[in-house]
Amino acid sequence: MLRDAEPQPVRLSQYRPPDWLVDTVHLDIRLHHSATRVIARLAMRPNPEGREGSPIVLDGDELVLKSLALDGVPLAGTSYAATPSSLTIFAPPQQPVTVEIETLLAPSANTKLMGLYRSSGTYCTQCEAEGFRRITYFPDRPDVLAVYTTRIEAERDEAPVLLGNGNKVESGPIEGTTRHFAIWHDPWPKPCYLFALVGGKLERVADSFTTATGKVVELGIYVEPGKSGRAGYAMDALKRSMRWDEEAFGCEYDLDVFNIVAVADFNMGAMENKGLNVFNDKYVLASPETATDADYANIEAIIAHEYFHNWTGNRITCRDWFQLCLKEGLTVFRDQEFSSDQRSRPVKRIADVRLLKSHQFAEDAGPLAHPVRPNTYREINNFYTATVYEKGAEVVRMLKTVLGAEGFHAGMDLYFDRHDGDAATVEDFLACFADANGVDLEQFALWYSQSGTPELRAETYWNEAARTLRLDVEQRLPLTPGQTDKQPMLIPLALGLVGPDGADLPLTLDDGSNAERGVLLLRQPKQSFVFPDLPHRPVASLNRGFAAPVKLSSNLTTDDLVFLARNDADPFNRFDAVQTIALTHLVTATQALREGEAAPSPAPLVEALGATLGNGALDPAFIAQVLALPSESDIAREIGRDVDPDAIHSTRRLLRRTLGEALRPALEAAYSHAAPAGGYSPDAASAGRRALRNTALDLLAATGTSADIGRALTHFDAADNMTDRFAALSVLAHAAPPDREAALAAFYDRFRDDPLVIDKWFALQAQISEPGTLERVRALTEHPAFAMSNPNRVRSLIGSFASANQTQFNRPDGAGYEFVAETVLTLDGINPQVAARLLAAFKSWRALEAGRAGRAQSALRRVAETPGLSPDVSDIVGRALD
Ligand code: ARG
Ligand code: ZN
Repeated sequence: MLRDAEPQPVRLSQYRPPDWLVDTVHLDIRLHHSATRVIARLAMRPNPEGREGSPIVLDGDELVLKSLALDGVPLAGTSYAATPSSLTIFAPPQQPVTVEIETLLAPSANTKLMGLYRSSGTYCTQCEAEGFRRITYFPDRPDVLAVYTTRIEAERDEAPVLLGNGNKVESGPIEGTTRHFAIWHDPWPKPCYLFALVGGKLERVADSFTTATGKVVELGIYVEPGKSGRAGYAMDALKRSMRWDEEAFGCEYDLDVFNIVAVADFNMGAMENKGLNVFNDKYVLASPETATDADYANIEAIIAHEYFHNWTGNRITCRDWFQLCLKEGLTVFRDQEFSSDQRSRPVKRIADVRLLKSHQFAEDAGPLAHPVRPNTYREINNFYTATVYEKGAEVVRMLKTVLGAEGFHAGMDLYFDRHDGDAATVEDFLACFADANGVDLEQFALWYSQSGTPELRAETYWNEAARTLRLDVEQRLPLTPGQTDKQPMLIPLALGLVGPDGADLPLTLDDGSNAERGVLLLRQPKQSFVFPDLPHRPVASLNRGFAAPVKLSSNLTTDDLVFLARNDADPFNRFDAVQTIALTHLVTATQALREGEAAPSPAPLVEALGATLGNGALDPAFIAQVLALPSESDIAREIGRDVDPDAIHSTRRLLRRTLGEALRPALEAAYSHAAPAGGYSPDAASAGRRALRNTALDLLAATGTSADIGRALTHFDAADNMTDRFAALSVLAHAAPPDREAALAAFYDRFRDDPLVIDKWFALQAQISEPGTLERVRALTEHPAFAMSNPNRVRSLIGSFASANQTQFNRPDGAGYEFVAETVLTLDGINPQVAARLLAAFKSWRALEAGRAGRAQSALRRVAETPGLSPDVSDIVGRALD
């Protein structure tokens, strides 16, 4: 018997322009849960840049073709070939033609949540990356841009609201029937991945926005009936985003309408469809009773992110999916800047760097490492990663650090001017910055092609007699899958020389030049810099603001770090100095525990934290970040090999207890005084006070005294908002006092009808670091509130177990791996994208000690050997085992 040929990977080097273009698309879609009829009329023409005389080849995915006509004439069976995954029209006339295609879809049966599907009865679509081909046959690639007109028809009772891209041009009843229709027209040419439609019973929150040039835009946020009271913050964030993009980037909105729809079943966070963003409802709905401060911050960031895509992604799109970072990295950078301007810049930077390290550095250090712009893929959906998004944003941030704010904005302006309406590449993007600034960015471009986190070693030497400081830096790029020959990178090293009084000393080099804007540009494997004529020995504050996404090590002493924690003018590095002391302590103490040796002294850490807690001039949100220790996975990554998650957990728990005891008076004071006055408000200052108070509550409870546990119980009972209530419940869940189950049950009873809150309840239980958790999680998969078909439920319960519970996922007996592998296989038949994402939790398995690594490998092998895997899961498991 012949085996099916393995599908070939797609390669960047094999890019060819499309042979046929599409100028306009007319869609006529009659919604029905099991038999939606789609008629697509495509005005096509041969691409002068394509291969002459080509057939018309269209993509499909699980499609059923009902009829096909060319220029109005039904096609005979011999002149075309149709399968569920492609449609080829042989020997078409080499001139503009009209192709009319009728397909039949079953939205209710679509559990992959790609293409047209139903979420709690609402019809909605998700087309990025390759979902449009599940609606009709089409050249489903981002470099085919067309103008869309969409007619949607539905039962009036079932779908009173009908939404499409662009502006609504007509709507009304269909006389003599129970049906109605709406026609939407989007004047902006777009790739099909930005197509969307929605039909359902939805409630609308309405507002409007007047643009910089005085155009009035109608804004709508559509939610499930009864939930419009929770959409106010999202609307507010949207209006602030629209204003900010005009002011910061000169980007004005370009349609009469901007709509957002919140749906309960969604594979990712949200989607930037032109004029009709579709959101996971978790990133729209918020009320003080149901959403935490972190939820509010995420809503603000994601509303902004999708809105900002209107220019970076939609007006200028990607030539092919290898260029995904062109829109995603840039748009993440833009949303980070927005949040920084709306909130506290240092606190936002700290939060972003924490996320970068925990997700992206971990990805870059394991078998799933890939460049910001990959050069090959088997399944594009597996490349919506921390590397493409978060490292992609860091690369844009570095561009700004290298060029300065003015040079950066000159490049952005040129990019918008030169490429508006284009499907562009990373080279196009970089050329704008090079041209606008008259610089060469060839070496900088390596950030897009070389994977792995660069390691930077910096050593400073003080010459007391000469009063000079020498800085030696060495860069090293670790080997990563498929990349063995690494070139030195252009690394902007932002630094300061901190004098004994805490003031920065001048950054003049011995050749008389200055480190411009406090940045040294590193280009070689090893470089040395000398700062002459210094009045005193300074302490070097390195990689300020985490300007370069590198792993830095240095010869700074613990005393130097304690000094920086107290004195550095750069708030990020104040935070980072404490983290470095803590991480060094935790790594050393973990090794000591495994080898039965004495633990190092926590005194320097206690001193640095005490100084931070006692500094009334600091922002409470900043103090809370400094108090939050590196996570168990941060420690594991720092250890790097032969990792024992149980030893890490015990060490970290012991340190938390020690800190709670040593800092008790200051923590009690913070708890008593940090509470914001008045009723709940989600603003950054109030959120920061709650964060500090809840961090204090948590560290105090780590001591385990009944008074401290009692404080958490009181906090739980007295809470008037979700931030405080859930913070207290988390403390109780991890401390495991006798009343824990009662508190969990009370929380469930209170929020049983609110799936997004129940997700928090699932996630918390899945993260408890005790042997009973696996059984608890298994039992919860049978809970009536759980559903394998809903991505939010799966991510909350099983995703949290696999990614946020180091000790229980990595149980020494391998039962955690088996459970996740089993779940991945079940889920693969329902929703391959979510299954593949869950499987990626195995990304660090090679760093584990031999026993666990062997068990993880067996679980992965079991998945790999299962017949009929989706391309999504097969790709991840293949790379994880490679
Ligand atoms: N472009 C969306 C964003 O704003 C993500 C959509 C990805 N969807 C997918 N199925 N891979 O980041
Ligand atoms: Zn995006």
